[in-house]
Amino acid sequence: MCGIIGYVGEQSAQPRLVAGLQKLEYRGYDSAGIALVDDALSVYKQVGLVGELDLPADSPQTCGIGHTRWSTHGKPTDANAHPHTDCTGDVAVVHNGIVGNYDDLRAELPGHEFRSETDTEVVAHLVEEELTRTDDLREAVAAVVDRIEGSYALGVVAAGYDGIVAARRNSPLVVGHGSDGNFIASDVTPLLEHTRSVSYLEDGDVAHITREGVSVWHDGDPVERTVKTIEWDADAAEKGGYEHYMLKEIHEQPQALRQAIAGRIDPLEERVDLDLSLSASFLDDVDEIQLVACGTSYHACLYGKQLLETLADVRATVEFASEYTVGSGRDPERTLVVGVSQSGETADTLRALRMARRTGIRTLGVTNTVGSTVARECDDALYIQAGPEIGVAATKTFASQVVTLALFALSVADSRGELDPAVGAQLLDDLQALPGAVQTILDREDEVAAVADAYAGGEAFFFIGRRFATPVALEGALKLKEISYDHAEGFPAGELKHGPLALVTEGTPVLAVLTDGARPEETHNNVKEVQSRGAPVIAIASESGREGDYEVGFGVPELGLLEPLVANVYLQLFAYCVADTKERPIDRPRNLAKSVTVE
Ligand code: F6R
Repeated sequence: MCGIIGYVGEQSAQPRLVAGLQKLEYRGYDSAGIALVDDALSVYKQVGLVGELDLPADSPQTCGIGHTRWSTHGKPTDANAHPHTDCTGDVAVVHNGIVGNYDDLRAELPGHEFRSETDTEVVAHLVEEELTRTDDLREAVAAVVDRIEGSYALGVVAAGYDGIVAARRNSPLVVGHGSDGNFIASDVTPLLEHTRSVSYLEDGDVAHITREGVSVWHDGDPVERTVKTIEWDADAAEKGGYEHYMLKEIHEQPQALRQAIAGRIDPLEERVDLDLSLSASFLDDVDEIQLVACGTSYHACLYGKQLLETLADVRATVEFASEYTVGSGRDPERTLVVGVSQSGETADTLRALRMARRTGIRTLGVTNTVGSTVARECDDALYIQAGPEIGVAATKTFASQVVTLALFALSVADSRGELDPAVGAQLLDDLQALPGAVQTILDREDEVAAVADAYAGGEAFFFIGRRFATPVALEGALKLKEISYDHAEGFPAGELKHGPLALVTEGTPVLAVLTDGARPEETHNNVKEVQSRGAPVIAIASESGREGDYEVGFGVPELGLLEPLVANVYLQLFAYCVADTKERPIDRPRNLAKSVTVE
């Protein structure tokens, strides 16, 4: 995710940048750095926390930018830490987001010396090129962002140039208007001790921040952005104004999903490129893909298995990492084990991956954490790029895991020559439409809260779905039980009548996913079965099939096989709101830890 800050004003910039970065460390903390500028540029950056930066005792510069990093491209190293500089050492850039086309852009910069493995460094060199055509840093940055695909919040400074140039698209950036200077920051947290007057840049804006004021351009024209007053206290600000990190992270999903696909879909060729070392011939020959994980990540694997089998016609199996054994009769040369772990440190998952490696099986780690043990020990690592998740209950990372596995399934299908072009093109379209669809559900939070309030007193809660909605039913139940402490179970809908139906009464709400990709016609029969036992049904159905006889009905925009993933957002909000009415410690539920490093 990364945090960025900038200050230009009457005071020394260094202490303000450092204090600001410390407030942004929750966004990433594997390395940090600042650049201070007047007629010359000085950069200080290294691996570790902001407080560990080796800085001068004091510094006269009154303008600078800073960054605290959560690695996406390139390991946490001193060289990969931001700010990044150009060849002349006069331009410095901090960036939050992903430059999807950085490989192509880098290829267009022959003769430039690159010193890091990051996508960001290309921006510094592009600005350097533009500054040979104009001496206006704002114009230079505006020309550069026109060439960037992906997401960015950028802060750029240059020796001898007055102030900071900032730009944003699909990554947050707020401008702080202070009495002794002006700021940019990823969110308002570091600004509150200096000012409560802020303005938010919009996608496509380029701003010039000086000690005297802030001017903003959009598509080359000057525009005004309203200055607002922030009423939040510091604690609320850290959570983006939300009461809990979990709710903040639920709301971050559109952004996380954009990041999961950034730079991985070639729009012209309608192909996925994941930059893995697994060869097409290995994937073509593979007999079985075994997915191993725990908890929420296990549910993502269940979704991934169905995508792999549907798209790539390959045998895919899913095992709880804690139960994994290599099993007999497998050819290690034709087997791939995929370990999925948000933290990349879960002991059970590591144990399973190590077991596979010992028998010569190739391993792929799908994780959120660059430099984690899973990433280091697997033959290949695929990052979900969701940014840090602080709430113990996994939310945005589940969605990002499923999307990353969908991209992987498309790439495997392509390698095996199994991809039906129409199916592939549709899924790529749906993946790109997914963030918008998720946003429509988030916009209905108040309605979900009212339903949660009405049903929070249930004796137990059951979640049902079929096919792609089965993992979502399991995940919905896990979310509710872990944060509300209510008894909740998820089932494949067809299994209800084989036992669990005995538990269903008028006191047990049933949440049913009836979307596309979930064989809704069949699940509808199970809905009737529970209703005839008096259970109220909260149905989540495709917008087109919502007209049913349910106690509550929520709609999901048309999105094919991804509809159950969108339905999951209702279930996350439901779990959150039920737990909130019970005043549970949502971000730190009892007995649970974010990363389970014991077997
Ligand atoms: C549930 C949850 C856990 C984790 C599980 C695996 O909300 O967060 O079930 O999914 O402990 O963790 P990772 O993905 O870090 O391996």
